Parts: sequence; C-alpha cells; structure tokens
Amino acid sequence: MTETTRDAIKAALDRRFGDAPDVPANLRGQETLLAMAAHRTHRAFADKPVDAGLLRFLAAVALSAPSKSDLQQRDIVLVEDKATRRKLDAMIPGMDWLPAAPALMVVCGNNRRQRQFHQWRKQPYPNDHLDPFFNAATDAAIVLGWLINAAEAAGLGCCPLSVIRNNAQQVSELLGLPDHVFPYAGLALGWPAREGWICPRLPIATTLHVDRFDDKDVQAQVDGYDHRRASLQPPMKQRHPARFGEAAFYGWSEDKFRQYADLERADFGAYVRRRGFDLK
Ligand SMILES: Cc1cc2nc3c(=O)[nH]c(=O)nc-3n(C[C@H](O)[C@H](O)[C@H](O)COP(=O)(O)O)c2cc1C
Repeated sequence: MTETTRDAIKAALDRRFGDAPDVPANLRGQETLLAMAAHRTHRAFADKPVDAGLLRFLAAVALSAPSKSDLQQRDIVLVEDKATRRKLDAMIPGMDWLPAAPALMVVCGNNRRQRQFHQWRKQPYPNDHLDPFFNAATDAAIVLGWLINAAEAAGLGCCPLSVIRNNAQQVSELLGLPDHVFPYAGLALGWPAREGWICPRLPIATTLHVDRFDDKDVQAQVDGYDHRRASLQPPMKQRHPARFGEAAFYGWSEDKFRQYADLERADFGAYVRRRGFDLK
C-alpha cells in the first residue's frame, strides 16, 4: 500500500506528540499541513546559494501575515552585504554552523512607524507602556513563523535565532535600527544538507486545554515526555555536569532546568528601555 499524504501527516504528528488526534478524512490543503506537521529546524546546509529573488518572495509571503489592529509593527532586514553578514555572525554567540548558512534575515519589531504617525500630526503618542512593545514583538513572532512555513514549503531549511538578542545593542547599531525598532530573531536559511528529524513535543494532553486550563497531571506527563523523547532522539550532551552531576537519565526537563539555572539575557529589559520603550 502506498503512503498517502494523509498517512504522512498522521505519522509526523504521532512521532511529534505520541497522542496525536486523527487526521480528518477528505482534508483540503494536505501538502501544506504535512509541511507544517513535519517541520524541523535545520542547522546544516548544502553549499549552494539561495536566490535573492526567492528570499524577497518569501519575505513578501511572510509579511502577508495578520497583524495586530493592522498596525504592521514588524519588518524584516535581509542581510545581503558580506561584510555586514560576517560582523553579524560574530555577534551571534555559540552558533558555529552559522557562517556556513547561505542566507540570513532578521525579523524586527517596529513601533517607530506608529509613533511617527503621531509626530507627523504634531500630536502626542499617549501609549507609552508595555502594550506597544508586546504588540510589536507579537507581530514579529507571527512573521517569523510565517517565514519559516513559507521557506519550508519552498524546500528550504531554516533556524530561528533568538540568540541574536544576546547582543541586541550591537546588532541594532550594525543594522541601523532606530529607537522603537528591535531585533526579535534572526533566521538562517539554506538548502538542507540532510533530512533532519521531527523533534517530539509535549503531549497534546498537556498543552491543549478544553474549556478550562488544567495542569494537575503535568509532572507525570512531563516525565512521560522526557522518556518518550529520549527513546526517539540521540542522548543530549549534559549541561553543567560538574555543578549538577552526571545524570543517569538526562531528559528534556532536566536539560531545560540546567539551561535556565543561570541568569540569561537579563539586560534585555534595559536595552528595550534604551531604545525608547517605557515598559510601565
Ligand atoms: C523564537 C525562536 C528562537 C529560536 N532561537 C534559536 C537560537 O537562538 N538558536 C538555535 O539554535 N535555535 C533556535 N531556535 C530553534 C529551536 O531550538 C527549535 O525550534 C527547537 O529546538 C525545536 O526544534 P524543531 O524546530 O526542529 O522542532 C529558536 C526557535 C524559535 C521559535
């Protein structure tokens, strides 16, 4: 029996969740849904350029995403200049594969334009509080997601890079980002060097709530997920073994605990305030 697209969607979701719901019969858009269900991040790319026209096209598709109140508080910086790219790669710590990625975009939140509408009319901008920053970040996040979906639909592989915010000030200066515009995430793109794998997620039972939020079984569910994930993926390199010991079983939640055992990016709030946002 040949595998249908519907079977492939089912197989991807089963691997992803372990408790995936059935794929409805007579479903439209199966190719699109399969690309999304089988998503995987890529960090290794073929030595083959990505056409500049394709990148512009994908940016246009991604910028078609919905936007809070139609405010369109997000932009993309496509990094084409080689010297700028080299400097940017050097500002993104811990990603030794990045210089070999053929293309890089930076998705930004942009609350500047909205403020300009008020300035041009010589009117005050009364909304200097957390919400505009949050809205711009949300618009940027949606565009990032759409960019990933569009790139993957076109056969590209990609990796988002929030680590770009570790050096948000330097990145902003390099890319000429003015006040009220901030880097949300980078996106490295290229033709995948290998197939990659579907990364398991927490069960649907843990993260899909019906009518009322319910996490009474979360510890047992996370434990089950840790073991299911470990059975499907190669063992993870243990973080901080000297500090926390060499764990006999090293699951996802142990890894995430260790990852966030130290203060990370604690200066980001100060950066955002320096860019002109009042987060009160
Ligand atoms: C907003 C965002 C930021 C991310 N930042 C990074 C990053 O800085 N470095 C990295 O290697 N991966 C980054 N990732 C990729 C995640 O690590 C990846 O999505 C996760 O491990 C799950 O793997 P999968 O996408 O293959 O399912 C980011 C993903 C998102 C959505």
